[in-house]
Amino acid sequence: MSSSSASTVTRLPNREAALKALYENVAAKHMFPFWATTKDVANDEDRQLLAAPQAIPFLWRCAEDIEPILDQAVQLVTMEDSERRSLVLMNPGLAPRRATVSTMYTAYRLNDANEIMPPHRHSPNAIRFGLKGKGNFTGVDGENIVFGPGDMVLTPNDTWHNHGTVGNEPALNLSVLDLPLVELLNAVHFEHDYKEMENGKLVSKKQQSERFSSDYSQRIYGYGGLLPRFAGKQKRGAGTSSPMFVYRWEMMRELLDRHKDNEGDAHDGLMVEYVDPTNGQPVFQTITFFAQMIQPGCRTLPVKSTTSLLVSPFEGRGHAIVDGERFNWSKFDTLAVPGGHWFEYVNDSDKEPLILFVASDEPTLKKVGLYKKWGKSASGEIMQVLD
Ligand SMILES: [Fe+2]
Repeated sequence: MSSSSASTVTRLPNREAALKALYENVAAKHMFPFWATTKDVANDEDRQLLAAPQAIPFLWRCAEDIEPILDQAVQLVTMEDSERRSLVLMNPGLAPRRATVSTMYTAYRLNDANEIMPPHRHSPNAIRFGLKGKGNFTGVDGENIVFGPGDMVLTPNDTWHNHGTVGNEPALNLSVLDLPLVELLNAVHFEHDYKEMENGKLVSKKQQSERFSSDYSQRIYGYGGLLPRFAGKQKRGAGTSSPMFVYRWEMMRELLDRHKDNEGDAHDGLMVEYVDPTNGQPVFQTITFFAQMIQPGCRTLPVKSTTSLLVSPFEGRGHAIVDGERFNWSKFDTLAVPGGHWFEYVNDSDKEPLILFVASDEPTLKKVGLYKKWGKSASGEIMQVLD
């Protein structure tokens, strides 16, 4: 039927009304008409197909917006009312999805003094990163972890865990979950009925009994390049994540400090990835984490990649530029940098380093063969970056 060229098609006299009725019928039958509706735009059908909601670069402010709301919530919502008191950052381009970028969300959580919530587990992977207070608490698979600013705690998929605060001071942390990705794959499940064996019977429990001494996993795995064989292969949770459940800021900071005279990569500065100490791979199969240091007075060259990032400044002063838009962030804020946007980081201090805590869906993109990264040179030429 290739003879039906535009010149031979007979336009119906009532075409506009018929088209309108056709589109209404298509929508009513839950379908999308994948064809061009105007000749004024090249490949209009593709433009329409790709016009689905997309994450946008966006900055959430911790001190100005997040903390005051959490402070109020502590007064209004007690642990009798809810097992959680968290604020999930919802990307304006993706709302009403609970997603900060398309694959991950960040949530901020304030626990009042001496609050410990009951255990639960779920298929999404999560980390917690301490921001304020020394008494953040997470029990992971029977290992009690108390953590402070900069410490990162893993709660891998299917690992029983419970959160809270120990001691007499409130504590603030942020969490990053791959929940939006797992949700997209229709693989989310949650369980709340934690049980332990007692006298040969499974009994529901509100708290996990300690089965490993505090910080056990870090004591075993926390020495880079040294792997205690006597620990054996332990399957904790689904067994698909790093078996080291806490990464202490003190060690990360010491490592970064050893490189304080190194300018690092022109595009990335000095990036240090948190890895599974038994195999050097990212801590989770889906998402990974970095500390990224930008030296005093330095500015990274623009980078664009297919990965989406959640960037939280942790130390120092600076700002980010995403597709030419300047984001003036403060400590503990979160900036969403969805894949496909050019971004660069600027250290505004000529004395102190700028240190960022970054979450990325890079492992997923790499596994499915969709990982790509580009960088601009100082003169503006675009090249593919391999890493
Ligand atoms: Fe959880």
